[in-house]
Amino acid sequence: MNIPEQDGLIDAARAARESAYAPFSNFKVGAAVLVSSGRVFTGCNVENASFGLTVCAERVAIWKAVSEGEREIVAVAISVDGKPAMPCGACLQVMQEFAGDSSPVVIAAGSDGEVIRYTLAELMPHAFEEFQQEGK
Ligand code: THU
Repeated sequence: MNIPEQDGLIDAARAARESAYAPFSNFKVGAAVLVSSGRVFTGCNVENASFGLTVCAERVAIWKAVSEGEREIVAVAISVDGKPAMPCGACLQVMQEFAGDSSPVVIAAGSDGEVIRYTLAELMPHAFEEFQQEGK
């Protein structure tokens, strides 16, 4: 991914963070997902008084993309205040579901300009996949 595209995705994640609903943790997260058609979908974390119902920003963005017919994630940018934050394991597994043939790039951006970048394969080298259920 070239740098202007990455910067645009980080900007979209940063803007999405403004909508974060995080009254319980006060940790606001924004995400932006670039899919194979070239469209970008954004999300923010949405918390709940029943804490376990909280959904991460990454998954909100991915649900939006998939519900609009998209099936292949190219890159995911995540924006937080402070140091860059990596996606949780649940979100990595959801990214894996829509990883396509080339591993999506995960771009974690902090508020001071620091950016950490990995492929999903680097973060999740032995992910569970559907075919693994065949032997059950
Ligand atoms: N959170 C995200 O939205 N994305 C992550 O990658 C990690 C955690 C949210 C969930 C919860 O609302 C808050 O951050 C604290 O865990």
